[in-house]
Amino acid sequence: MTHRRMIAEICSLLLIISLCSCMDLGAEDDLQNAKAFLVKYGYLEDEKDYSKTQLAAAVRNFQWTAHLPVNGDLNDATVLQMHLPRCGMKDVSQTKWLHGGPFYTNHRRKRYTMKSKWYKRHLTYQILNWPWYLSSRQLRHAVKAAFQLWGNVSSLTFSEAAGDSADIRLAFFDGEHNDGARHAFDGPGGALAHAFFPRRGEAHFDNAEHWSLNGKGRNLFVVLAHEIGHTLGLQHSSFKNALMSPYYKKLGKEYVLNFDDILAIQMLYATEGAPSNGKLVQRPGKDFSMFEDWSTENSESSTKKTSSYCQSMFDAIMWDLKQTLYIFKGRNYWMISPSGNVSEPQLSQERWKKLPAFIEAAAVSGSDGKFYFFKGGRCWRYKGSRLEVGFPRKCSDDGLPRHPDTALYFKPLGHLVIFKGDKYYVFNEKSLTVEPYYPRSLQDWKGVPHNTNAALNHPNGFIYFFKGENYWTFNQANLKVSTSGKWMQDLSWLGCQNS
Ligand SMILES: *[C@@H]1O[C@H](CO)[C@@H](O)[C@H](O)[C@H]1NC(C)=O
Ligand SMILES: *[C@@H]1O[C@H](CO)[C@@H](O)[C@H](O)[C@H]1NC(C)=O
Ligand SMILES: [Zn+2]
Ligand SMILES: [Zn+2]
Repeated sequence: MTHRRMIAEICSLLLIISLCSCMDLGAEDDLQNAKAFLVKYGYLEDEKDYSKTQLAAAVRNFQWTAHLPVNGDLNDATVLQMHLPRCGMKDVSQTKWLHGGPFYTNHRRKRYTMKSKWYKRHLTYQILNWPWYLSSRQLRHAVKAAFQLWGNVSSLTFSEAAGDSADIRLAFFDGEHNDGARHAFDGPGGALAHAFFPRRGEAHFDNAEHWSLNGKGRNLFVVLAHEIGHTLGLQHSSFKNALMSPYYKKLGKEYVLNFDDILAIQMLYATEGAPSNGKLVQRPGKDFSMFEDWSTENSESSTKKTSSYCQSMFDAIMWDLKQTLYIFKGRNYWMISPSGNVSEPQLSQERWKKLPAFIEAAAVSGSDGKFYFFKGGRCWRYKGSRLEVGFPRKCSDDGLPRHPDTALYFKPLGHLVIFKGDKYYVFNEKSLTVEPYYPRSLQDWKGVPHNTNAALNHPNGFIYFFKGENYWTFNQANLKVSTSGKWMQDLSWLGCQNS
């Protein structure tokens, strides 16, 4: 064996080792996330070690509720489903289900035998606060209609309360909000809202979502109607089309309440019988088109704000450690707050002195929180907005490619990853060198196209790659692309849906 050949063999061996440990880390993270999810939604008991059998049973129960093929495996489709936007309430509340028994067979009976209900027919409600960008008139109209949906198929009646002694109170909160760590909101996506069963009378909505009553973002009307269902005593339904099914749905043209929803509310308030006027009134989703218009001042300002970077591809995108999103294009940058508020365009140079326009790649390091920018053969590093000594620097002399496509912080490796063409480089921020054995082929990133324009690490655990009008989400657990689509339409957190 020649010397050179031997080195090559050792290198590939080391690579396999490092790649394997990185995959294991991803899989381990994934398992922990999956367990936390299964505990949060009632499929596993809190804080315990589980046998493989118990875990598989919990996964089967979850797959069954989510209408996935039931096999007990934490496969891609199952993990992806766990990341979809949904109601924060448990799917399962009976301890019996926690022990791997026949999954879900007596679901319906349990749901109806739950005796958490109101013992009066007329209930009052109150809206305690709401996002600044929604008009109060429109919101109150939507809340009223959401209560009416239920009132029109049951004996219950509702009215808005004047004082502060309402039976049911609706409020928007960020993160942890004094009803226990389990209920802490998780930023955009994930859990959107939750409520309490009677007779606590509260429904909470995640302020970090970009709510809308125009049918394009997170449709607040649908989520209101769902959470109000909980405040009346309804649990989740296993029927995919039921309003009370746990996963977020857009407002469709069909009936908002499904047969199963109506049955559930009538069973719960059986003794009181039918609606006061004796007949059910059900109106289809398309009758609620009044929630599809923003008030004029809102639609004007959001079009102006989002117009520029939303019309075509941006140069770079990144998330700082406070979860503010930064989007760079030309001389400008935009910030999107964790609550989805898009800033006016700002001049990059005013914040980061000496930074040129049209940067090629940018990332915030998860290990030191500093901002890294790349353009041509040079790189810039800022702590906050202070340029660090020694920068700009000729990073192409350190082994980085000239004109990189994109950069991101990759947690499993603990370093920045720079992409260029069909290769990627792992860049050590401390030593400012490319790690040994890199660059490597982009084939390690299964499904990621060559020459992407921008990429970032989303707090939801996925990596997003952008190229033209398309995006790809990369699953760090199995190192594969899991979904793709058009970012302007699909990714509400980019703030482009009203332009
Ligand atoms: C409830 O019924 C009333 C009376 O029929 C009707 O005017 C109203 O639009 C209905 N509301 C909903 C949300 O179905
Ligand atoms: C949203 O941004 C605008 C201007 O960029 C600012 O005036 C407003 O206070 C912000 N609102 C919130 C809730 O952060
Ligand atoms: Zn729910
Ligand atoms: Zn809450």
